Amino acid sequence: MRIAIGKPDIGREEIEAVEETMRTGWVTQGERVEEFEKAFAKYCGVKYGVAVNTGTAALHVALASIGIKRGDEVITTPLSCIATANPIRYLNSKPVFVDVDPKTLNINPSLIKKKITEKTKAIVPVHLFGHPADIDPIMETAETSGLYVIEDAAQAHGAKYKGRKVGSIGHISCFSFYADKLITTVEGGIAVTNDSELAEKMRSLRNLGMDKHKKFYHPMLGYNYKMSDIHASIGIVQLKKLDSYITKRRENVAYLNEKLNDLNLKLPSEEDYAFNVYYVYHILVNNGKEKTVEYLEREGIETRPLLSFIPAQPPYQNKYDANKYPVARNAHQKGFYVSNSPQLTRNDLNFLVSALRKAVSRR
Ligand SMILES: Cc1ncc(COP(=O)(O)O)c(C=O)c1O
Repeated sequence: MRIAIGKPDIGREEIEAVEETMRTGWVTQGERVEEFEKAFAKYCGVKYGVAVNTGTAALHVALASIGIKRGDEVITTPLSCIATANPIRYLNSKPVFVDVDPKTLNINPSLIKKKITEKTKAIVPVHLFGHPADIDPIMETAETSGLYVIEDAAQAHGAKYKGRKVGSIGHISCFSFYADKLITTVEGGIAVTNDSELAEKMRSLRNLGMDKHKKFYHPMLGYNYKMSDIHASIGIVQLKKLDSYITKRRENVAYLNEKLNDLNLKLPSEEDYAFNVYYVYHILVNNGKEKTVEYLEREGIETRPLLSFIPAQPPYQNKYDANKYPVARNAHQKGFYVSNSPQLTRNDLNFLVSALRKAVSRR
């Protein structure tokens, strides 16, 4: 593929950092993880970071730490990576989907209130594709109803809502460091919070529920979700590059949007309250999506579906009526994305523009 999705920017510094960590003789969770947690929490403007081995694990320990259990309900979006909803199910609790806003494709805050019942315990908004969810009204609703808010910021490192970094607004926020994310540790995740008790609980949950002071004593049922120092050492290097990656991603989108805005396509955008980090370049096509995608793939431009419309996925389809989320379903049917990697050159961007223009004119 000439323009592939998800190729991380791993260079000499990352390789040297891994080598250095391996030479210390300590490779599992240790000083590097602690250093990475502190640096990432500081970047978000939050007190504590709890690093784990995936973004999914971060969501799982976050939900477990606030006491989500059998019979509870957790409100979230139907349009996301399935990993947003699965951890709710791991705890035998029920994801309650609320349709999305057509402009941002994030959970629509005005539809949340009527889905709240006495079983509702939390809201998990996702900052999809790097565009922050409209989180002030979500926090307001949560406060009046006594709910926790866990931000799923897996795709939104460095994004801002009204000038505030995502990850610093909800009670806990979760990020992924999978290879195609804004920064990577190869596989990895982190949960950040200002609440010291929740942070301690999540630290124990990632380590088999072990007591902080008493070795091999496990007051709670935990998981083994630890991050290794090898992975953290990559993250420490990557974090230093995050802001420059974001600048390049925003420049890519400004260029692409300018060259494509006369076509009948819905291109990535940014609400007044948002600083979008544009995790990918996603496009909604009014008709002929299949042909457009086929053409791009033939030209060597990798495409992906607009993630998952979760209520229609096999583990969910018997439990949900997919017709109840028309905006999310429509976006999923019409949408796809291509890479918005910071490594794309001006030549790559021009190639993308000309292929997209041709693909659209052939429909
Ligand atoms: C929105 C969202 N939430 C959660 C996850 C889970 O992260 P991970 O793949 O690191 O488990 C992802 C990543 O793929 C994601 O895109």
